[in-house]
Formats: sequence, structure tokens, C-alpha cells
Amino acid sequence: MSRSCRLHLPLLSRGSAFALLCLLLRTLEVDALNLTLNNSHNATCLRAQWQMNFTIEYETLNHGLKNVTIQVPSNASYSGSDCGTNDNISQIKVQFGSGFFWTVNFIRENSAYFIDVISFSYDTSDNNAFPDAKEKGKVSTTFEVNTIGVPLDEFFRCRSVMTVTERNVTHNYWDILVQAFIQNNTISTKEYLCDEDESIVSTTAVTTMPVPTAKPIPKERPYPGTYSVTSGGAVCLLATMGLQLNITKDEVTSLLNINPNTTDCHGECHKESATLRLNDSSNEYLEFLFAVKNGNRFYLKGVNVSLTFVNGSDFVAANNNLNCWDAPIGSSYMCNKEDTIAVSDTFQINTFDLRVQPFNVVEGKYSTAQECSLDDDSILIPVIVGAGLAGLILIIVVAYIIGRRKSYAGYQTL
Ligand SMILES: *[C@@H]1O[C@H](CO)[C@@H](O)[C@H](O)[C@H]1NC(C)=O
Ligand SMILES: *[C@@H]1O[C@H](CO)[C@@H](O)[C@H](O)[C@H]1NC(C)=O
Ligand SMILES: *[C@@H]1O[C@H](CO)[C@@H](O)[C@H](O)[C@H]1NC(C)=O
Ligand SMILES: *[C@@H]1O[C@H](CO)[C@@H](O)[C@H](O)[C@H]1NC(C)=O
Ligand SMILES: *[C@@H]1O[C@H](CO)[C@@H](O)[C@H](O)[C@H]1NC(C)=O
Ligand SMILES: *[C@@H]1O[C@H](CO)[C@@H](O)[C@H](O)[C@H]1NC(C)=O
Ligand SMILES: *[C@@H]1O[C@H](CO)[C@@H](O)[C@H](O)[C@H]1NC(C)=O
Ligand SMILES: *[C@@H]1O[C@H](CO)[C@@H](O)[C@H](O)[C@H]1NC(C)=O
Ligand SMILES: *[C@@H]1O[C@H](CO)[C@@H](O)[C@H](O)[C@H]1NC(C)=O
Ligand SMILES: *[C@@H]1O[C@H](CO)[C@@H](O)[C@H](O)[C@H]1NC(C)=O
Ligand SMILES: *[C@@H]1O[C@H](CO)[C@@H](O)[C@H](O)[C@H]1NC(C)=O
Ligand SMILES: *[C@@H]1O[C@H](CO)[C@@H](O)[C@H](O)[C@H]1NC(C)=O
Repeated sequence: MSRSCRLHLPLLSRGSAFALLCLLLRTLEVDALNLTLNNSHNATCLRAQWQMNFTIEYETLNHGLKNVTIQVPSNASYSGSDCGTNDNISQIKVQFGSGFFWTVNFIRENSAYFIDVISFSYDTSDNNAFPDAKEKGKVSTTFEVNTIGVPLDEFFRCRSVMTVTERNVTHNYWDILVQAFIQNNTISTKEYLCDEDESIVSTTAVTTMPVPTAKPIPKERPYPGTYSVTSGGAVCLLATMGLQLNITKDEVTSLLNINPNTTDCHGECHKESATLRLNDSSNEYLEFLFAVKNGNRFYLKGVNVSLTFVNGSDFVAANNNLNCWDAPIGSSYMCNKEDTIAVSDTFQINTFDLRVQPFNVVEGKYSTAQECSLDDDSILIPVIVGAGLAGLILIIVVAYIIGRRKSYAGYQTL
């Protein structure tokens, strides 16, 4: 794991390191928008911290197009923000400069809340921001987010940049931490991560934000990815799976969905063994080792993982004595239901929509599947029928023996 970019404290005196830290903290604080709202009973109902900027494209006097990036100054006003009267709609309003208005609505539906609508308006008659605008006047844009549903009593967190372009405005949002509809005046300790933070890189169990460390987060199903390994120009290993890592470190358990869109894979195929290694842009990886047994079946023999938390600490786990995903060579192994591979006491992998074929892939396609017992409800039917048949045979045998005894006894008495 690369350590080259880490600050080497012994090189700095304690005092200068502290000064540097203060400087970093100060620059971070100045930019962050920060707001806590009370409801009519003086109970905290919403809190939010985030950063944003806007790039606006407008037409200039000489008919050209120009981009201007608008930063939110630290003296922005939040007036008009409130939690609503019915406890089902909350709104944050931000005003700054001459004529910039930004609002976001949160709506509550049953046991979740949604970031609903964001609107942004600006006034091109502001000569500081748009000195050469051809047309002067107010412009408003609105878009619906609505897809982000956060369980009630959890806070939403997104460190990654979320970018949305709506008409002439490109919105950037990052370092977001928000909880709306806070229950019972109690700020949550459970975090709900945005998809963008969920790639392997951002293992976020250990957090540096001023909140207690997160408890286990109920997660949505991981998005399945298809991974393949080629050898001599032909696909030799295929795997389709949604992967959720369950990591326990320093007594904190965190769930991490692997985002296939930001994950690469490579590997090796041999006659009796195969590997599939998933990695992201840093030196982190998750490796699956397959082997052959009895010459005619394959199975998952080992898993290795190596990750780095945001705070720089490492997490590694390995097990080379597994016996999962067992199927005949020449077929694939399939399990649509959630299944779990217990790699170690501190690491397990939850798999979803799994299909894997580590050997004898023909023409880049899966061969017939052997399904896991979890999927196969129909396995019960042969068992019941079989048990029934066995019972029937037993009854016939017993009846036969009794019959013979009787007749034998009969002979005796005769
Ligand atoms: C936001 O404000 C709260 C209270 O007003 C304060 O405790 C917190 O440190 C602030 N956070 C940032 C990042 O400025
Ligand atoms: C919110 O309510 C608390 C008491 O619960 C009070 O101390 C605080 O000043 C209130 N904040 C605002 C912005 O009214
Ligand atoms: C809420 O808190 C403010 C400031 O602390 C106080 O002036 C006001 O009376 C309180 N309102 C209620 C309803 O408790
Ligand atoms: C606006 O925010 C984006 C995302 O954080 C950042 O990359 C960009 O440099 C910012 N623009 C300016 C002019 O600061
Ligand atoms: C928005 O951008 C288009 C070009 O993409 C430009 O023609 C138009 O004037 C711009 N609108 C405003 C209100 O600046
Ligand atoms: C303004 O920014 C947008 C988004 O980044 C880009 O698509 C557009 O080409 C830029 N326009 C100009 C005139 O630079
Ligand atoms: C915010 O600060 C700027 C200068 O930095 C000043 O021109 C502006 O009037 C201030 N706005 C408010 C609402 O205080
Ligand atoms: C919020 O509650 C009010 C009254 O309880 C209701 O009329 C309104 O439709 C609700 N809004 C939403 C978005 O659920
Ligand atoms: C809030 O308090 C009520 C009653 O005191 C309780 O029933 C409810 O479970 C609490 N909700 C949360 C999220 O703590
Ligand atoms: C994560 O692992 C812990 C400890 O092994 C376990 O108690 C918990 O149920 C697991 N959670 C999920 C969602 O797999
Ligand atoms: C991955 O990309 C696909 C297609 O571009 C998209 O539908 C999906 O939402 C993305 N998944 C994640 C977890 O970002
Ligand atoms: C995975 O690692 C390889 C080299 O080992 C590298 O080329 C590739 O860029 C990495 N994947 C991602 C998504 O960065």
C-alpha cells in the first residue's frame, strides 16, 4: 500500500504541525455552509453542513458565451429556512451576493425522507458577477432530486462531488452532511452514504466528522457487476455479483457496497486454479481464489482483501480454507438470494444475484447453472416425495413381514 503521500510528522516540529492543522481546519470551516434549525417547540429538527458552487453560462454583449463560477460567501443568509408546520416538509433557503437565491426542500414519507426539489436563481443585472451580460434580468432554475431516500433518523452524508447541470447552471455539491426531520431532538449517529461515496475507496467506518462513529447501516442491495478474465484472447472466467462487504474494525461494523462502475478486475486462469481480483483506483483489492476438487468440481477456496480507511489505517483479511460456491466443472454456480461468505471474525461478504464460472467458459457465456440451495425451493418437493416413497416401502415391507409371520404362525398352530 502506498504511503508516499502521507504527512511525515517527525519532520515538522510539533508547533508547526499544530499550526498547519489549525490552518487546514480554518480553511475548511470558512467554506462550509452550516445550519441548525429548531421547530416551534425549540427542538432541533434539521441540521446541515455542506459546500456548493455554481458555474453559470451566459451570453455576453459580443454574442459570445462565458462561464462564471459563483462561490457562496461565508456571510450568506439562511433566513426563511424552516421545518414547516406539519413536520412533513422542511426547507433550507440561502441568499447571498446581489440576487442569488438557493433553496432545497425535504419531504417526509412514512419512514424515510427525500431531498426533493432544488431551485437556484440569479440576476444577470448583478454587474459584479455578470459585468458583460447581454440580457439583464432574473433567471430561475429548478430540478427534482427526489431519488435519494434516507431512512428517518439517519443522516445523509456525501463527501464526493455531486454534479447536476440544469439549463445554464452547473451545480456542484460536496462534503454534505444533512439530517432532516430529526426525531425527539436527538441527532442521529447512523449515517446513510450516497452511492458516490460507496466505491471501495471510501471505506468510511472511521469518520473524522464531528459525529459519533456510525452504527451498522441498513443498506440497499448492491448493484451487480459482471467481471471477466481473459486468457489468450478468450474469456476464461466469468462472474456476475452484487457485493456487500461487512467489516468490523475497532468494534465498529460498517457495510460497504462495491460499485462495479468504479471497480476494475483482472485475474488468472489455470487448469486447476483461477483467481479474480477486483480493484479500484488506489491499491485496494478483493481477491477470489478458485480451485478444483476430485477432478470434476470447482469451489471458492480463498478470499483476500486489503482496504484503506479514510483515516489511513489498513484493513486486511484472508482465508484460504473456504468451501463455497461448489458446482461441477463445465457448469456455473448461481445464487440469486442473499448469501454470506464468512471470511474471518471481522470480515464477511454478502453476495447478491450471484453467478460464477471460473473454469471451462465456452464462447464467453455461462454454461448451465447449478443453483444454490437457498434459491431452490423445489428441492423440498423431491425430498418430501422421496420421504413419502421411503415410508410407503417401509409399510409394505413391514406388512409383508407381519403377513408372513402370521401365516407362519398359522402353519404352526395348524
Ligand atoms: C456548525 O455549527 C455548529 C453549531 O452552530 C458547530 O458546532 C459546528 O462546529 C459548525 N460546523 C462547522 C463545520 O463549521
Ligand atoms: C434552539 O433551541 C435551543 C433549546 O432547545 C436553544 O438553546 C437554541 O438557542 C435554539 N436555537 C435557535 C436558532 O433558536
Ligand atoms: C425557544 O428558545 C428561545 C431562545 O432560547 C426562547 O427565547 C424562546 O422563548 C423559546 N421558545 C419556546 C417555545 O420554548
Ligand atoms: C467548484 O466546485 C468543484 C467541486 O468541488 C471544484 O472542483 C471547483 O474547483 C470549484 N470551482 C471553483 C472556481 O472553486
Ligand atoms: C443560456 O445559455 C445559452 C447557450 O447555451 C444562451 O443562448 C442563453 O442566452 C443563456 N441564457 C441566459 C439566461 O443567460
Ligand atoms: C461552461 O461550462 C459548461 C459545463 O462545465 C461547459 O459545458 C461549457 O462548454 C462551458 N462554456 C464555456 C463558454 O466555457
Ligand atoms: C457580505 O460580505 C460582503 C463583502 O465581503 C458585503 O459586500 C455584503 O454586504 C455582505 N452581505 C451581508 C448580507 O452581510
Ligand atoms: C403534509 O401534511 C399536510 C397536513 O397534515 C397535508 O395536507 C400535506 O399534503 C402533507 N404533505 C406531504 C408532502 O405529505
Ligand atoms: C421518540 O419518542 C417517542 C416517545 O417518547 C418514542 O415512542 C419514539 O420511539 C422516539 N423516536 C425516536 C426515533 O427515538
Ligand atoms: C455484519 O457482521 C456482523 C459481525 O459478524 C454481524 O453481526 C452482522 O449481522 C453483519 N451484518 C450484515 C448486514 O451482514
Ligand atoms: C452504474 O452505471 C449504470 C449505467 O451507467 C447506472 O445505471 C448505475 O446506476 C450505476 N451504478 C452505481 C452504483 O453508480
Ligand atoms: C486496477 O489496477 C490496475 C493495475 O494493477 C490499474 O491499471 C487499474 O487502473 C486499477 N483500476 C482502477 C479502477 O483504477
